[in-house]
Amino acid sequence: MRSFIPLGATLALSVSFLLAGCKTAPPPSEPPTPSSSALAAPVAADTGTSILASITSAVAVIHPLGDSKVMGKVTFNQTADGVVVVADVMGLTPGKHGFHIHEYGDCSDPKGLSAGGHYNPEGEMHGLPGAMHHHPGDMGNLEADDSGNAHLEITLTGITIAGDKDPILGRSIIVHAKEDDGSQPVGNAGARIGCGVIGVAKAK
Ligand code: CU
Ligand code: ZN
Repeated sequence: MRSFIPLGATLALSVSFLLAGCKTAPPPSEPPTPSSSALAAPVAADTGTSILASITSAVAVIHPLGDSKVMGKVTFNQTADGVVVVADVMGLTPGKHGFHIHEYGDCSDPKGLSAGGHYNPEGEMHGLPGAMHHHPGDMGNLEADDSGNAHLEITLTGITIAGDKDPILGRSIIVHAKEDDGSQPVGNAGARIGCGVIGVAKAK
């Protein structure tokens, strides 16, 4: 108990001392507001942005879902024209298979449902690439040959790998059992048969 009293007294003393100091010191010598905000905000913003902005290559390794045999690799490279996507997928049935960026980087569900819906940060409608309206990660279809192999190259202009504009890092790629016919809401492409999380790749 006794120790509180001197403490309070010291506190009161220092407060009045500070107040007195404030009164004598003119307002011009009060730069704390501008300087502290100038320091605090940009440092935090710079750190986050520069680390992510330096990531210009990503990769998704496609794993089979359920009893499918779908496997493959999709690479993403940020260029001035957009994100160049190159996909090589095998184990497909011959023909077309819907191919999209989905919202979550979670392929844990055997049916791929944990990947969520189509990545749709702009509230767009679904569509095939080149259509007036489409989700930024709508890549249309993989087209498998008679051996079940598909190769696709496409440049996506509505996204970035890890920039400010609709970043895809940490989301997922889904391969579907059927053709994406461009219809609403998600192209009627059927079951999810392959899934891969979009991760940071070693830059070339
Ligand atoms: Cu899909
Ligand atoms: Zn879509």
